[in-house]
Amino acid sequence: MAGGIFGRRKGLGDWRRYSDQRALRRTLTWPHLVALGVGAIVGTGIYTLIGIGAGKAGPAVIASFAIAGIVCACAALAYAELATMMPAAGSAYTYSYVALGEPIAWVVGWSLVLEYTVVCAAVAVGWSGYAAGFLSAWGFPLPIELAAGPHAGGIINLPAVFITMAVATLLALGTRESALVNTILVVVKMLALALFVVLALPAFSPDHLVPFAPHGWGSTEVGGNTMGVMAAAALVFFAFYGFDAVSTAAEEAKDPARDLTIGIIGSMLICTLVYMGVAAAAVGAMPVSEFSSSGDPLAHVLRGLGWPGAAQLIGAGAIIAVPTVLLAFMYGQSRIFFAIARDGLLPERLAHVNKRTGTPVMMTMVTAVVVSILAGLLPLGEIAELANTGTLAAFIAIGVSLIVLRRRAADAERAFRVPFHLPVALIAIGGCIYLFVSLPEKTQLRFLVWNLIGVAVYLAYGMRKSLIAARKEA
Ligand code: ALA
Repeated sequence: MAGGIFGRRKGLGDWRRYSDQRALRRTLTWPHLVALGVGAIVGTGIYTLIGIGAGKAGPAVIASFAIAGIVCACAALAYAELATMMPAAGSAYTYSYVALGEPIAWVVGWSLVLEYTVVCAAVAVGWSGYAAGFLSAWGFPLPIELAAGPHAGGIINLPAVFITMAVATLLALGTRESALVNTILVVVKMLALALFVVLALPAFSPDHLVPFAPHGWGSTEVGGNTMGVMAAAALVFFAFYGFDAVSTAAEEAKDPARDLTIGIIGSMLICTLVYMGVAAAAVGAMPVSEFSSSGDPLAHVLRGLGWPGAAQLIGAGAIIAVPTVLLAFMYGQSRIFFAIARDGLLPERLAHVNKRTGTPVMMTMVTAVVVSILAGLLPLGEIAELANTGTLAAFIAIGVSLIVLRRRAADAERAFRVPFHLPVALIAIGGCIYLFVSLPEKTQLRFLVWNLIGVAVYLAYGMRKSLIAARKEA
């Protein structure tokens, strides 16, 4: 039986079958996808985790960003090739189903569900830090009880719950239609980052870079927290992903080959360049210890440099624009469910699309409640690290799928071919494994527990209900 399920694979062209039957409408072109990508990538990672990362690595957090960026760039290349070969909803889950078979695909899909849900929680907490800083600067400080979870002496992080519910409601109403608003918000958050670099860079002092890596390079665990450059890399890895959200829109791209390639690689490149600039400007402007524990580190740096008005502008930029990340990941979440349920591995009800709004209202609201609980109660660093485990698992599967399909389907049509695919795939796989082991042990354990639950769900439901299995038996 077990041998049988490992043999359950989708064919390379299977996505066409689904595209013809239960297709999503093709309305998106590459500028939409670049905007969707940048919209999903630039968020809490650069606006907030840069502080926690700098606390772990010191000024060497610049190197942490570079390491995470290289690993993600390799994964992005692999994504682009696979996404253009199989432009179907479901991203890493769908590619793994073709390359590695159903059980691995299930683990990847289940990990993506973790990633997308927990990313939303982390982004909501990051948003809350800027909202609290902004209100406080206007003379309306939020009481700590309502601005943080129990870990920081509060009761619940209410702004995080608020933004989660607001975005879920917009999404349930069919807000994705508004590509124009998304594009405007993307411009706002990039302008805010540019303003930060322009104002912080003149204060750059090499003295602030010494000692460069006070906690060493490798990840070492101190009281449940990890320290060091690699520990920070495993955290700020969070800042780079989101380009995979572009691939979840694959079935809706007008010209998938061109649109996905430009969308994924373009958005990734833009973000990497911007991050390097922001990180260098931040650690050069003041000693890391002065901003590392701030809830709104970029605004904090500018306040410290004597730019309170600009700090408010950055805060406003984050408050207005970071919710696009939430929107993209909540949207992606519903698409992952859609893809998994379409294959029979989860109950179809979960992916049910409301006829009037064209969105899976019930699933969006369930996701929002779970996200609110996580965001309301847990510390940002821990949530972001947990989100990273799911993403790392998906990226490893992507790297392996690239190698497998280059062998098994060497002649298949590829609109985009990764140059030097073997080294690129191996850097993605090896880099993700190294980042995974650099995470705190308790985070690795949580990931394991989540996947053990996933395996139980698969054995109890998906293994029997799988449509591929039904087709084989028929
Ligand atoms: N890359 C996204 C962010 O930083 C998840 O918010």
